[in-house]
Amino acid sequence: MSTPILQVSGLRKTYGRGQNRFEALRGVSLDIGEGESLAIVGKSGSGKSTLMHLLALLDVPDSGRILLEGNDTAGLRGARLNRTRNKTFGFVFQQFFLTGKDSVVENVVLPLKIAGVGRRERRRRGLAALEQLDLADKAGNKALDLSGGQKQRVVIARALVNNPRIIFADEPTGNLDTATGSVVEDILFTLNREHGITLVIVTHDDDLAARCDRRVVIRDGILVEELAVTEARA
Ligand SMILES: Nc1ncnc2c1ncn2[C@@H]1O[C@H](COP(=O)(O)OP(=O)(O)OP(=O)(O)O)[C@@H](O)[C@H]1O
Ligand SMILES: [Mg+2]
Repeated sequence: MSTPILQVSGLRKTYGRGQNRFEALRGVSLDIGEGESLAIVGKSGSGKSTLMHLLALLDVPDSGRILLEGNDTAGLRGARLNRTRNKTFGFVFQQFFLTGKDSVVENVVLPLKIAGVGRRERRRRGLAALEQLDLADKAGNKALDLSGGQKQRVVIARALVNNPRIIFADEPTGNLDTATGSVVEDILFTLNREHGITLVIVTHDDDLAARCDRRVVIRDGILVEELAVTEARA
């Protein structure tokens, strides 16, 4: 397999205190290869989103290490952390809503704005990303006015506008009908195949998991299985 782009070891994460204390991750170790597509599956509440947030450097573990391209991320703070996230990652998370009153292209270029890219270049790259997702004609519409599947494609356009190395997707097809879901899936796997973008996908959908190179199963905060999809199908 290719060299790991992410290496995590012994990740633990506890939420809350006292009676509300909950150990969401209880020691997770995992390597993710560059260019790989990885599915993270498991029951509701098992810790999938928690793990994803840690991998994407959106939250910090209580203990354990996360190496990005061999470099320990523990020391990354503030502007450097933001820059690293912005440069390396794209996010397809349902929590990261589109701003409904802003136009589609303004939503797409948000990561570029954060990265300090100038207005004209932002617009050029935003329109190119929308073009890739067959949404160029909606660039000027308010995000609010799009259909569910179109919104999800805008989220993908936003995730790829900064030319990321890794796309993190949490239930990318969860709220979509089957046909639209498979369009969104196809887009993600095309990005993986043709641009070598590493995919890390949390999903409840077995078919989507089966399309990935590999899947890991989390149960109660512990990684219990790591299956190549071919084995999983056997
Ligand atoms: N901020 C928080 N405070 C307290 N507990 C939390 C917090 N966030 C998550 N948890 C708990 O941690 C556990 C793991 O949550 P997580 O969101 O990672 O689950 P998940 O596997 O993504 O579930 P789902 O499939 O429903 O999205 C759950 O039991 C949840 O209730
Ligand atoms: Mg979740």
